[in-house]
Amino acid sequence: MEVELPESLRTMVREKLYIYTGYVKTVNMLSKPLVVSIGAEAYILRGKFMEIDSIIKWRFPKPYMPPELDREFRSIRTEIEAKVMWRCLLMGIKTPIPLYVNTGDAVIIMTYIEGSTLRELANRIRDEELCRICREVGVYIAKMHVNGVSHGDLTTSNIIVDSKESQTHLIDFGLATFGKRDEDYAIDLHIFFRSIESAHIDRERIMKECFLNGYSSITGDYESSKMLKIVNDIRKRGRYVAERKLKSAWRSI
Ligand SMILES: Nc1ncnc2c1ncn2[C@@H]1O[C@H](COP(=O)(O)OP(=O)(O)OP(=O)(O)O)[C@@H](O)[C@H]1O
Ligand SMILES: [Mg+2]
Repeated sequence: MEVELPESLRTMVREKLYIYTGYVKTVNMLSKPLVVSIGAEAYILRGKFMEIDSIIKWRFPKPYMPPELDREFRSIRTEIEAKVMWRCLLMGIKTPIPLYVNTGDAVIIMTYIEGSTLRELANRIRDEELCRICREVGVYIAKMHVNGVSHGDLTTSNIIVDSKESQTHLIDFGLATFGKRDEDYAIDLHIFFRSIESAHIDRERIMKECFLNGYSSITGDYESSKMLKIVNDIRKRGRYVAERKLKSAWRSI
């Protein structure tokens, strides 16, 4: 699919890079970006950036938003995503490596992870493998929380397991937050659990148990129990809000 790319990317497609490795080699700065998916707020393209297999994430403008606000949101999300990827990499958490960031155009180019999302895998892999992956996700998320960062959108689509070494990678950090707020951390658990319940209900028990096992191996049992308590409070509140909506809908009929 063809899309009208922002200026910075169009320029890069025209640019060449000269690499000296005993002789001069000319490589394209960016070649063949092709759309692989269109999310709610970003185009995901795949191409070669300086010969490296890459993903180009471009948060496109939204025509229904006031332009200034839209630009600011897209720019902030892009900046947060790149910052959190670096933070995670420094903590030993696997994520794609950011190769290029342009907050003005809301573009990040990052390494491509060859593999499948946990959403695609969860219903078709063996228990031990599923447990290993969920445990690793639990360890990663606990490390982020201990370092004052929450993911913000921890669904099984935002976890990629690479097909070569079977390593777990976290992606999609545009909604991450910094700052020590237990409620933000609990929301990570809540979103992860909800995504399990909606797409992998048959594997619910193993996924949650292994995740919590990994989580508490970093935070300790006291912190993880505290988190579960907040998750339960959030759920009760959610149910209360949903029930109220239902009641008012009935009343208006
Ligand atoms: N670095 C990467 N390597 C391989 N695949 C990727 C990479 N980044 C993103 N993807 C793929 O693109 C999909 C969407 O990416 P991402 O979650 O970052 O964008 P998004 O706009 O939030 O999309 P959505 O709204 O669907 O969550 C991922 O679920 C994954 O399949
Ligand atoms: Mg996503």
